[in-house]
Amino acid sequence: MSSARAPLVVLLAASSIWLPLAVSQSADDCAFDNEGGTISTCNLVMNATPFRLKSWKTGTGITTNYRGGPGVDAQQSNEGGYAFASTSDMLQDFPLPTKAWMITSPNNSTDSLGRCLEFAFASEGLCVESLEVLMVMYKTNDVDEIFFNNTLTKDYQVMSLWRTRQSTKAEWKKAQVTFSAPTPHSLVFSASPDKRFASRGGYVAVDDITFTEGPCSNECLFDRDLCTWTNNDTADNFDWSIGRSSTKIGTGPSKDQGSSLNTFVTTGGYAYVDSSYPRLPGDKAWLVSAALQPTAVPLCVKFWINIYGGGTGNFRSEYDIDDMYMKFDLHCYRNRPRETAALVSKPFTLTSDVCLSFWVYMSTTILSHIHIGALRVVLMYEAKNVTVWRLQNQQLTDWTYSQVTPPNTNSYVAIEGVQGPRVIGLMALDDIAVYPLSCPLEPATAAVQEADCPFDQDLCQWKVEADGRSSSPTMMWHLALNSKVLIDHTFNADEGGFAYIESFNTDQKSRMKSPFLPANTTFCLALWFSDIYEDNAAKLSVIRSSEGREETLWTVSQNVITDLPVSGYTTATWRYAQVLLPSHNTTYQLVIEGEVTRSAWAVDDILLIPGRTDCI
Ligand SMILES: *[C@@H]1O[C@H](CO)[C@@H](O)[C@H](O)[C@H]1NC(C)=O
Ligand SMILES: *[C@@H]1O[C@H](CO)[C@@H](O)[C@H](O)[C@H]1NC(C)=O
Ligand SMILES: *[C@@H]1O[C@H](CO)[C@@H](O)[C@H](O)[C@H]1NC(C)=O
Ligand SMILES: *[C@@H]1O[C@H](CO)[C@@H](O)[C@H](O)[C@H]1NC(C)=O
Ligand SMILES: *[C@@H]1O[C@H](CO)[C@@H](O)[C@H](O)[C@H]1NC(C)=O
Ligand SMILES: *[C@@H]1O[C@H](CO)[C@@H](O)[C@H](O)[C@H]1NC(C)=O
Ligand SMILES: *[C@@H]1O[C@H](CO)[C@@H](O)[C@H](O)[C@H]1NC(C)=O
Repeated sequence: MSSARAPLVVLLAASSIWLPLAVSQSADDCAFDNEGGTISTCNLVMNATPFRLKSWKTGTGITTNYRGGPGVDAQQSNEGGYAFASTSDMLQDFPLPTKAWMITSPNNSTDSLGRCLEFAFASEGLCVESLEVLMVMYKTNDVDEIFFNNTLTKDYQVMSLWRTRQSTKAEWKKAQVTFSAPTPHSLVFSASPDKRFASRGGYVAVDDITFTEGPCSNECLFDRDLCTWTNNDTADNFDWSIGRSSTKIGTGPSKDQGSSLNTFVTTGGYAYVDSSYPRLPGDKAWLVSAALQPTAVPLCVKFWINIYGGGTGNFRSEYDIDDMYMKFDLHCYRNRPRETAALVSKPFTLTSDVCLSFWVYMSTTILSHIHIGALRVVLMYEAKNVTVWRLQNQQLTDWTYSQVTPPNTNSYVAIEGVQGPRVIGLMALDDIAVYPLSCPLEPATAAVQEADCPFDQDLCQWKVEADGRSSSPTMMWHLALNSKVLIDHTFNADEGGFAYIESFNTDQKSRMKSPFLPANTTFCLALWFSDIYEDNAAKLSVIRSSEGREETLWTVSQNVITDLPVSGYTTATWRYAQVLLPSHNTTYQLVIEGEVTRSAWAVDDILLIPGRTDCI
């Protein structure tokens, strides 16, 4: 069905030449001036604790370079001020990395032409995951009260406007972002750490923040008009118009790009052409930018497109760009925690490397409830399923690009959603593509080792070793289902989802053995455990088992408490452990051994991080 009717021709071009700005100061600007040793933070809100996040700091090359900040500011002065987020602050609560926010003071809605934010940024170190510019939209009109009366428990919603993930290697770069806001809002500079490189340190810094009314040069939100873009009267046959929401059934986007993922935002505008009558096949509509200045560096044109309906040229039969994505339904009341739904491929026979790429969206609008579930890529063999990529719980408030090269095998590939507790949020998947080349795993936080286990559906690749003494399956390691004793650590959901052993009056020992770990690699083993109904004979150990030799690497016992609660339940909580697994000259297995007499052990979220040298 490729009857080519009215193909679209879009002429788009953009420039990011840094023309000197007409000097028009906005109350939101900030150059972090060094005023006799005090760095001015202008009207910025530097304290992010109302959002339960870490804060940015100010500094100069002279005062903060040795504490992990940049050596100069954006004007290349070692005395000039800047703001920065250091990864040592963001990783203070390891293993729960925390973002750092710097927030512009709340402002009213913008007008429909929007505003232009320009700023300089620099970053260095492997430990920086990303710098993002977010828009926080407040549900209240009384914006002054939000920070100054600490009433931020009120609902707000976050939308991502801009993001970079590459280190600038300490070089200052410039960025611009055009945005419009229909509600009272703040913009946020959000730095995220990469916890895998916690030992390396790093920073993200920002300087010379300016705001101007209207869009940034050559940019256009198409919320009010075509900005500096024009329709050409001579070279084409019909014109582009501004639309808000399609009034026709079967064609036109229902919302603009900025609001399509965000129910909180009323719809903005977009430029569009309608190919229906009186348009004829071959008609063209040109949207032409203002004249661009020559540049020494390549420019990048970015735009969002939406093509929908019959008769929109030959795009329709080749792509399906319908504002559509696969959604994992988090809201369905019949779904229980840890239930899964899988999209399964045709059988794959992989004889050479391929790159499986896709985009995921995993976010909740309630930032205090970050547990929403997991998405994972699973290779399905006859006898076992192997996870090769996994992201869980709250991610960026934007689509995240993801890719993985599965090992060469014969298997089905499934992309699986795992239900967390019931939450308001969205888990979605889009643009799955397979390329004939190998690619590094993205995002780095989705890396999975074979011995990792969140204990969602099973014990993963861990095997329980039979022990002659164990008379009942509950006295051996097993997956806890419907447990009322403890809330699962992975999703903070009830109904089990961790490894568990218990005994009421006999000495029991049970061992769980990992798949083989590679030789000559140092790992940091991270796990969560809980001791339930304390008993002084109980022990939990991590043992390395290699060619018949065993070496205990870590042991913990339970503290005796004299007054057991009457109900028989303790208020059990999860505790975190890290165990260094020094490099070994052969492959080996890990054993998790639990000993109990009148108590229980629970273990969850086993994670192996290769190459970590600072594991304690
Ligand atoms: C808020 O926005 C207006 C116009 O959009 C701007 O003039 C003003 O400087 C901004 N900031 C504050 C703190 O009012
Ligand atoms: C927002 O609008 C209200 C009402 O028009 C006004 O009183 C207030 O000063 C404005 N706030 C800012 C930051 O511009
Ligand atoms: C803070 O909010 C509370 C509850 O709305 C109100 O009673 C109180 O007067 C406010 N205080 C200030 C300083 O605005
Ligand atoms: C329309 O496009 C043609 C061909 O590129 C160009 O010569 C002409 O100047 C344009 N006219 C306007 C009004 O942009
Ligand atoms: C692998 O996963 C699929 C999809 O969730 C499931 O139906 C199947 O039972 C699993 N196979 C094994 C061996 O666990
Ligand atoms: C591995 O290390 C052990 C001691 O830790 C040593 O006895 C053994 O010879 C080594 N094996 C190899 C192949 O190097
Ligand atoms: C590990 O290193 C040892 C000593 O360098 C070497 O003999 C052994 O072959 C290596 N093992 C593997 C699996 O690479």
